[in-house]
Amino acid sequence: MPFLPLDGHVAIVTGASSGIGLEVADALAAAGAAVVVNYHSDADAAEELVKRICDRDGRAIAVGADVSDEDAVVRLFDEAASAFGRIDVLVANSGLQKDAAIADMTLADWNTVIDVNLTGQFLCAREAVRRFRAQPDDARPARSKGCIVTMSSVHEVIPWAGHINYAASKGGSRMLTRSLAQEVAADGIRVNAVAPGAIRTPINKEAWETPEALEQLLRLIPYGRIGEPDDVARAVVWLASDDADYVTGTTLFVDGGMTLYPEFRENG
Ligand code: BGC
Repeated sequence: MPFLPLDGHVAIVTGASSGIGLEVADALAAAGAAVVVNYHSDADAAEELVKRICDRDGRAIAVGADVSDEDAVVRLFDEAASAFGRIDVLVANSGLQKDAAIADMTLADWNTVIDVNLTGQFLCAREAVRRFRAQPDDARPARSKGCIVTMSSVHEVIPWAGHINYAASKGGSRMLTRSLAQEVAADGIRVNAVAPGAIRTPINKEAWETPEALEQLLRLIPYGRIGEPDDVARAVVWLASDDADYVTGTTLFVDGGMTLYPEFRENG
């Protein structure tokens, strides 16, 4: 039997029916965790992932919930606890874009992005902290009392014209993550962020689906390739595991060097 770093852990992954979240849920399950595959609207995709995990003897359930809805978030955690008995890891991944130049950005575009990307992380993290604190220590599979990974973006530091709602949500997530890590470290709870760069998922299809777009995108990535969802998933598995037990309040950039200001390589 291979060593499974998340054996006995229970993990909730929000927004796990597609893209990075789907790959993260799959990887956590492969690392031994029982996984709650949260989805907003694509129940079929979530159930398909659950089936794939269960077919290889993993444990998973799908739970629909809007992370920006306070009651729905409590229900998500209730369903997780009643299925698997405890909660050890939250991956607050749900996120979306509603891009527009400022003059054309509606209040609805602004609110939807802030509600899902930032308020959703707050609501899920709050519920996770409450549950981590209330759980008995003797059944704990990890050194920490609980672990939260927020899904950020390179845009927690890189300004992004035409995407101010998204960049503001990720800048907010950066300080949510660090402030929360500071607040709950003494409880033995770890909080970190993963900040992906350009990853091949539906959210940024326009940036990679044609050879011309991809060529343009690659100019921003010193490492010379677009990221794949499993590049991000491996980072999340590590942060969730005891191997990262002394890591809290940090952002792990998984971006092929996008945050290294590649425009300055032969300039400036
Ligand atoms: C965005 C993608 C974008 C990437 C790099 C991500 O956070 O969701 O659309 O390609 O950042 O700019």
